[in-house]
Amino acid sequence: MSSKIHTDPTVFVIFGGTGDLNMRKLAPAIYNLFLDGWLPGNFAVVGTGRTKFTDEEYRAKLLEGINSFSRSGKADKAKWDEFQKHVFYQVSDATDSATYKEFSHRIDAFNAEWKTKANVIYYLAVSPNFFPIIASNLAKAGLTKDTKRTRIVIEKPFGHDLDSAKELNALLANIFDECQIYRIDHYLGKETVQNIMAFRFANSLFEPIWNRNFIEHVQISVTESLGVEDRGDYYDGSGAMRDMIQNHLLQLLCLVAMETPINFDASEVRDRKVEVLRAMRKFSPEDVRNSAVRGQYGQGWMTGKEVPGYREEAKVDAESNTETFAAIKFFVDNWRWQGVPFYVRTGKRMHQSASVITIQFKDVPHKIFPAESTESWQQNRLIISIQPEMSIRLQVQAKRPGIDMILNAVDMVFDYKGTYTNQAPEAYETLLLDAMLGDQTLFMRGDQVETAWELVMPILHAWQNKKSLSFPNYSADSWGPEAAEALIARDGYHWFTLPLKDKK
Ligand code: BG6
Repeated sequence: MSSKIHTDPTVFVIFGGTGDLNMRKLAPAIYNLFLDGWLPGNFAVVGTGRTKFTDEEYRAKLLEGINSFSRSGKADKAKWDEFQKHVFYQVSDATDSATYKEFSHRIDAFNAEWKTKANVIYYLAVSPNFFPIIASNLAKAGLTKDTKRTRIVIEKPFGHDLDSAKELNALLANIFDECQIYRIDHYLGKETVQNIMAFRFANSLFEPIWNRNFIEHVQISVTESLGVEDRGDYYDGSGAMRDMIQNHLLQLLCLVAMETPINFDASEVRDRKVEVLRAMRKFSPEDVRNSAVRGQYGQGWMTGKEVPGYREEAKVDAESNTETFAAIKFFVDNWRWQGVPFYVRTGKRMHQSASVITIQFKDVPHKIFPAESTESWQQNRLIISIQPEMSIRLQVQAKRPGIDMILNAVDMVFDYKGTYTNQAPEAYETLLLDAMLGDQTLFMRGDQVETAWELVMPILHAWQNKKSLSFPNYSADSWGPEAAEALIARDGYHWFTLPLKDKK
């Protein structure tokens, strides 16, 4: 992105305008886009929800969110005064056609005032039950007809399983053109995640060795130290497979495994990614037993504080069978990746919050050094750290200074902090700006979502149909169940972790 990019007049209509996502992520993101000069002179943010607010009350509420969650800290008074003139609130009932008539009048009024036809982004930051009704009502009110200027952003979860995702896709396809639909996966907006493509395809060094001939295995690990917090009602019907693996982790895997796109066009990039999902090996019931591990956290201590087990969390079934941890061994059955395992794991209440991709290269074909010099021998690794550390490390062997020949692994490091002084934008800033610009590269296409669901369904079915007798099977502040260690140890590897720096 360059600051020369021009954005057209835009109205953001935010369903779920009083909700947590808007307060924590969307409002701070729009405000930061404003501060950084990405927004056009004519823009409006219309928050909408069932609760009654005046525009003034709503602005004060947004300011609270921005002050608490914006990466740029507390809002500057003069800047906020300028920004808040663009913020409005409309009380609404998503099921009532009168609501949509009101939107229509508002948008007409902005267009008349701005003497133009503005882009309108309908952002559905609401519970998924409301997606169909809002989408249908927008269409009925004629608000989605202009396929060039109106867009709909759908938050996750996109479906609960393959059938519901297909149903939602079909409903949206009836109302919108695919070019109007922005299915969000916020991981794709993360700076370090976008950099995976830059790293792979803007350097001539790595692509020639990016295949089964040189790579032994890949690990994608997204661990969180937080528990389910106050999201028990949602999470208990979801679990780690649906909440993290079907979307975020499989997207990361696609970025690592995809073929080189011809160019950076949205359809090119998305085609290459969906090809990976299509090539992934389907799970038989036996594969689920051998290659998929589930876990649920029990009670424990985190940084000196006692924390409840998952089943004791608010709005969680006391006998819950929902997994808060999952580790899966995937294969991508194509020419490039045949035989290379992709180990993927995610979990809540883990010892460390860290998202790390590790590419382990094959060993040298012949070791010329005497055994005593290679005691800490380690195969080359490329470690892409997405968060909280933002870095890429290439681990290579080096000779330790001294008269004797002792080898050890050292890191060649590209660290964002040390390299760049400007702050990375939040994922939602990037994604909202892309939605304004009509760029779908970092959003999920309908077929991608369905193919990802197809892949995970056999695992979900197996887990749903067989209650785990071992839950809870890992304690808070651990690395998950022992079976997850065994999954990878059976192949002679172990889960890789970066030394702990920050604790979330
Ligand atoms: C969300 C999940 O999509 O991603 C949460 O619903 C999870 O359960 C979150 O905590 C993780 O996102 P991030 O950006 O904090 O890694």
